Amino acid sequence: METLNGIDIQPKEELNFDEMAEDDANSNGDDDDTADTAWFPIKISDLDNFQKVYMAGTDLDADHPGFKDPKYRKRRKLFAEIAICFKQGQTIPRIKYTPEEIETWGKVFNELKRIHDRYASAEYKQNFRELEKEAGYRADNIPQLEDISVYLKKKTGFQIRPVAGYLSPRDFLAGLAFRVFHCTQYIRHSSDPFYTPEPDCVHEIMGHMPMLADPSFAQFSQEIGMASLGASEDDVKKLANCYFFTVEFGLCVENDELKIYGAGLLSSAAELKHVVNGIRAGQICLQKFNVEDVCNTECVVTSYQKRYFFNESIEEAKMELRNLAASIKKPFELRYNPYTQTVQTLSSGGKILDIAKQIKGDVFLIANAIKKIQGNENENDSDVDFDQICQFLDVQKM
Ligand SMILES: [Fe+2]
Repeated sequence: METLNGIDIQPKEELNFDEMAEDDANSNGDDDDTADTAWFPIKISDLDNFQKVYMAGTDLDADHPGFKDPKYRKRRKLFAEIAICFKQGQTIPRIKYTPEEIETWGKVFNELKRIHDRYASAEYKQNFRELEKEAGYRADNIPQLEDISVYLKKKTGFQIRPVAGYLSPRDFLAGLAFRVFHCTQYIRHSSDPFYTPEPDCVHEIMGHMPMLADPSFAQFSQEIGMASLGASEDDVKKLANCYFFTVEFGLCVENDELKIYGAGLLSSAAELKHVVNGIRAGQICLQKFNVEDVCNTECVVTSYQKRYFFNESIEEAKMELRNLAASIKKPFELRYNPYTQTVQTLSSGGKILDIAKQIKGDVFLIANAIKKIQGNENENDSDVDFDQICQFLDVQKM
């Protein structure tokens, strides 16, 4: 095991989930329902144990643009230390970015913003405007992760956690289960502003953050994460593919036009143009999202994708994902409790009954709300079919 200023960095290859389960036996409290599955976090603070990264910014590949730049490598070490020392619940340290870093950011920001206006989804653009007002999204300012995290918490309950480098798909998806998004804080090397061989803050801030402020998209992201907890390696790979071809490279239909919501495209001007031009010329493979094809499509990380997928809506993608999640073999179902920020195992009749009681309270609330809205003669909510809602929830209109 190598160390970084006294902090242990364990290469991912050495990780052994059985050992981790032993190490973290106490983190599952007295609930032994999960004993037969791969270890997974039960409470949000368990994510502190998931910070095992492939590389921590000190270990750049020889073809990385910053490989021969000692100043850049020293800077990356600082970002790695911040991420590795971070504990759940702490404030994310603010970074004083250098003029060189801000210049790199500004070049990409201006180019991306220009093409987003035309091709990004409506949800993305709406939330981007809010981030400009609330989190300092500007060409001459790299937004602070803490400010974005505060904004996301207000919008969807998502929060950011700084990360030193690549996490395994299992660890990354586990964070989503708790509405925690692992986010890099360093920026790409200034010699090549429009290229990065790894996720950086441009990718995260310009690509991911605006969509995480959308409630439906946030729920979709969390459901992928929940499905991954305790799943086999094969199933985690399928879920990672679903994540990749939606959250990273997904397209959607908006007023009969294709729009983009995937962060990998929204943070790469070159690939975004490749997709747009390819669609116009009929030269890229674009197909409707379906789990079977998505799971059998290779995720390319060093070049453009060979195939892209679109959804009619996020709700449609959710239904596909739920079918996949239902096919994953686990001895119990899991549910997230946002009040305690813990994952509950629905492994007994008593536990299921507790959840049913909570849901009954919500259903009563909905029935009562419908009654009040329909009793208000001034209310003109003709877009909503209340009979359909009642039928869906199997409740009587009052
Ligand atoms: Fe990403």
